[in-house]
Amino acid sequence: MLKLLNLLKDGRFHSGEALGAALGVSRSAVWKQLQHLEGEFNLTIHKVRGRGYQLAAPLVLLDTQAISEFAEGESWPVFIHQTIDSTNAEGLRLAGQGHAAPFLVLAERQTAGRGRRGRMWVSPFAENLYYSLVLRVEGGMRQLEGLSLVVGLAVMRTLQGFGVKGVGLKWPNDVLVRGQKITGILLELVGDPADVCHVVLGIGINVNMQANEQVDQQWTSLRREVGAAIDRNQLVATLSRQLKRELERHRRYGFAAFQEEWEQAHLWQGRNVSLIAGNSQIDGVVLGVDGQGGLRLEVDGVEKSFSGGELSLRLRDDS
Ligand code: BTN
Repeated sequence: MLKLLNLLKDGRFHSGEALGAALGVSRSAVWKQLQHLEGEFNLTIHKVRGRGYQLAAPLVLLDTQAISEFAEGESWPVFIHQTIDSTNAEGLRLAGQGHAAPFLVLAERQTAGRGRRGRMWVSPFAENLYYSLVLRVEGGMRQLEGLSLVVGLAVMRTLQGFGVKGVGLKWPNDVLVRGQKITGILLELVGDPADVCHVVLGIGINVNMQANEQVDQQWTSLRREVGAAIDRNQLVATLSRQLKRELERHRRYGFAAFQEEWEQAHLWQGRNVSLIAGNSQIDGVVLGVDGQGGLRLEVDGVEKSFSGGELSLRLRDDS
């Protein structure tokens, strides 16, 4: 079926006969595969008598060679999957099997994309970026402090480089444009965080998605923001370059070196918020972040810091 997709991805018409000949199957087998492609990958294929079959829009698939050309040789080893449960899960599995990090896992779609706080990350085929960078971390907790916030900054800079206006961050690591989510970030760990561990930096960027009824929050995409389709291979290369630079800075100087820059990018500085952890809620005013990436809130006139992957922020009505 992927061979058929590769034949069709140019967005031109292909006759059933030509497709059958290229695949070595009958025209009716081609027809069956086309039906399957449409159902399985949610693609639209135009069928015109006398002309043949055409994808509704040309597809640029993820490609190791293209990524390395855009990255001018400066990229991590990359594994590309057509379909995977979750690129984060695959990254953790490979790390557990002893695969040498750093490396990158990408997929055209995820069947069980993981979001924060147990949510599902909607991951349609060939539209967005599902990117997991696996790093080996030595040297204990300091190397992990504020790491997810640094990833948010790197993503924000990358999106700005592609022309997205008004992009900013929401603690700890949502990347938003006018209150709409354009990227989600999920860090997962395996091993001993106080000694040697592997961390997976999972990044989901809405790239060329234009409509999707499954997403249960306000969202936007690069394409919606800049008004043109984006080459995801170029995006992978650019994001990797940005991440490389920021991760090196974080490794050397820790999160404290990013604190001010991060606060400048924070969309909710000075706002009245509620910090939610399970069933409990703390109301306060956002002061910024501390040197470890924790959220600084003024609560009843006293400054307090909060950290933890299960926390989430909401604006208060009186904000
Ligand atoms: C969030 O809920 O905001 C975080 C979403 C993170 C999604 C990305 S997509 C690539 C990687 N693989 C996953 O299963 N999740 C992350």
